[in-house]
Amino acid sequence: MRTLASLPSLDGKRVIIRCDLNVPLDGTTITDDGRIVASVPTIKYLVEQRAKVIVISHLGRPEGAPEAKYSLEPAAVRLGELLGQPVIFATDTVGADAKGAVKALASGGVAVLENLRFNPGETSKDAEERKAFAAQLADFADFFVSDGFGVVHRKQASVYELAQLLPSAAGLLIEKEVEVAHRLTSAPERPYTVVLGGSKVSDKLGVIDNLLPSVNKLLVGGGMVFTFLAAQGHKVGSSLLEKDQIETCQTYLKRAAELGVEVVLPTDIVVASKFGADAEVAVTAADAIESSPFGATGLGLDIGPDSAKHFAEVIKSSKTVFWNGPMGVFEIDKFANGTRAVAKALTEVDGLSVVGGGDSAAAVRILGFNDDQFGHISTGGGASLEYLEGKKLPGLEVLND
Ligand code: 3PG
Repeated sequence: MRTLASLPSLDGKRVIIRCDLNVPLDGTTITDDGRIVASVPTIKYLVEQRAKVIVISHLGRPEGAPEAKYSLEPAAVRLGELLGQPVIFATDTVGADAKGAVKALASGGVAVLENLRFNPGETSKDAEERKAFAAQLADFADFFVSDGFGVVHRKQASVYELAQLLPSAAGLLIEKEVEVAHRLTSAPERPYTVVLGGSKVSDKLGVIDNLLPSVNKLLVGGGMVFTFLAAQGHKVGSSLLEKDQIETCQTYLKRAAELGVEVVLPTDIVVASKFGADAEVAVTAADAIESSPFGATGLGLDIGPDSAKHFAEVIKSSKTVFWNGPMGVFEIDKFANGTRAVAKALTEVDGLSVVGGGDSAAAVRILGFNDDQFGHISTGGGASLEYLEGKKLPGLEVLND
């Protein structure tokens, strides 16, 4: 993969950098700035090289036209604060304002252009349309740096076509993310434990398929666990259940047994009378969820205390741990214990601990952990999962010599 070292002197040159500044917003307030923080080292490097830095990104999923709620302006403001220097914000992406902003850039200056996805060419299915939009972006610069790891699984104009139109290289974030993902997939130190949670099994099929032969233990929590429990023949009340995946889960359990992989499912569950902070709760055995006072209407919203303790022990005794997906509805305090216990255990791993995926990354920060307590917190949700699924990612392929 071409890295920043492959580029010639950038002094006075225009460098367009694709970041992933797709941060969660509450109105115009950023609720987790992790992705902006992760973008800073490469932008700083370019500033120090005296380049004229043009930052591009998407935010959310607007459909090819401007929508105020998806403006990148709050992210541009936060970036300026983190860089400790003024950042010019252009109110369009390739229009008159962007052209003016790029022209006004001094060496070492930074401009952020408005949301790439306000332009239909960015996400078009038609390669020619993407190429035409990428060409407009390429006109702004002498070099392209790709640093939005969260989008490398997308074949989009600013990720794929743009990299072919200018001399291009991966930034420091992509370099680091790829190095960690590579360590997880090739000869990880053992015992190797993967912890999966989140709501749906169907989102994790590829990862389970690809990782099952290489892990020692697979811990399952979150909403997806109920489909596994159903696969073992247990009733799960009104908990989240993907009926069409029950058979797949049975296949995984069988395959894991053949491969000698221990699949660890929770032995107890926090069951709620309803979804909400004011719900009544009870702890039941995982194989007797309907024995709670709420019977068949009970909802499993977290792994129970015994399971949280056991999961933590397994994690702490591992040398490599990858975790994707919360163990419960961590946004509500009474259902956050499982996720908190798993996060805490990851901070105590004597080896490599990796948190992957937007929800788990947000969870650890919301629960009060710091990024530096973990080996690595990936900025990629879908991207890191697809990497671990063994898929070829267009945004990385295009950076290879
Ligand atoms: C993400 O949030 O995973 C990335 O920013 C990619 O966003 P997308 O799924 O809308 O392409």
